[in-house]
Amino acid sequence: MMNTGQPILSIEKLHKDFRDTKALKGIDVSLDKAGVYGFLGPNGAGKTTTFKIVSGLLAPTSGSVRICGVDVVHDTRDAMRHLGVLFDSPAYYPYLSGEENLEVFARWSGRKGKRKISDLLSMVGLGKSMKRKVEGYSWGMKRRLGIAAALLDDPDLLLLDEPTNGLDPSGIAEVRELIPGLAYENGCTVMLSSHRMEEVDQICESITIIHDGKIVASGSVEGLSRAEPFVEIMCDDTDAAKELLRRSSDVDVVEDAGPGRIRIYSARIGASAINRILLGNGIEVRQFAEKRESLEEIFFRLTGESDND
Ligand SMILES: Nc1ncnc2c1ncn2[C@@H]1O[C@H](COP(=O)(O)OP(=O)(O)OP(=O)(O)O)[C@@H](O)[C@H]1O
Ligand SMILES: [Mg+2]
Repeated sequence: MMNTGQPILSIEKLHKDFRDTKALKGIDVSLDKAGVYGFLGPNGAGKTTTFKIVSGLLAPTSGSVRICGVDVVHDTRDAMRHLGVLFDSPAYYPYLSGEENLEVFARWSGRKGKRKISDLLSMVGLGKSMKRKVEGYSWGMKRRLGIAAALLDDPDLLLLDEPTNGLDPSGIAEVRELIPGLAYENGCTVMLSSHRMEEVDQICESITIIHDGKIVASGSVEGLSRAEPFVEIMCDDTDAAKELLRRSSDVDVVEDAGPGRIRIYSARIGASAINRILLGNGIEVRQFAEKRESLEEIFFRLTGESDND
């Protein structure tokens, strides 16, 4: 049912104001093939607002959104035929089984429900539990049931807003394991939001980082990191150490890295030579490590926020 040649999702110059709050300040996203894409940003960045606009639940202030070439604002109904979406876990009938709940959803959506419900439930790992009452499901199982519900009409694009939010570690693992298969077995494009860098790194091929209503970076996780390794040292007089190393022709970049720490990029000399330069000038090095930028650091550098809950 895909319109060939059209991006699966195309968001252009999207703005959304809520009275005085400019929640989105010109978002551009283009997804053109099956795969798993991450939409990463700290609290309040604009992830849910973007997903609500893509789902036709909120009108944008300006800008355009097309799903498989269909304009979401002008042809909402048509556009929604290509979309499956999960915000929080939907409300279920506790006394009905997982299978019966999906049957109710399929009937209520007024759509046919193209996928066989039992196949969908097996795909999300609920094959054995589909006859059990939902009241006995764990949170992770309920979230997976929600994902199955979003897939009822075989969408081209599946939006998952923080799909692991509020789950315990085993629930998080269940949902994370499931997502890549949804894209590859169904030829579906999955866009999931998260505020955890390590999560999108695990399951997404490519990520877009949003902060304060604007996109600050986009690409593969490797592409977003400063690929080169660096040497990090801890010493007493970091100012003197920086000064010394900057004078050395064997080192290109020296940066502060928090209290008592500096980082040396593009060194053409090894750790022991760096140590000798510093020691020879009376600067004692307390710790020495060769590192690469961590995921948290990438996120922090790009958004100025820490990657914690
Ligand atoms: N209905 C609303 N009325 C007023 N302001 C809103 C409304 N919905 C969202 N906002 C504001 O828009 C901004 C973006 O919110 P949004 O919920 O999209 O962020 P988010 O990235 O999903 O954050 P979180 O990680 O907390 O879910 C925030 O400043 C928020 O307070
Ligand atoms: Mg949100």
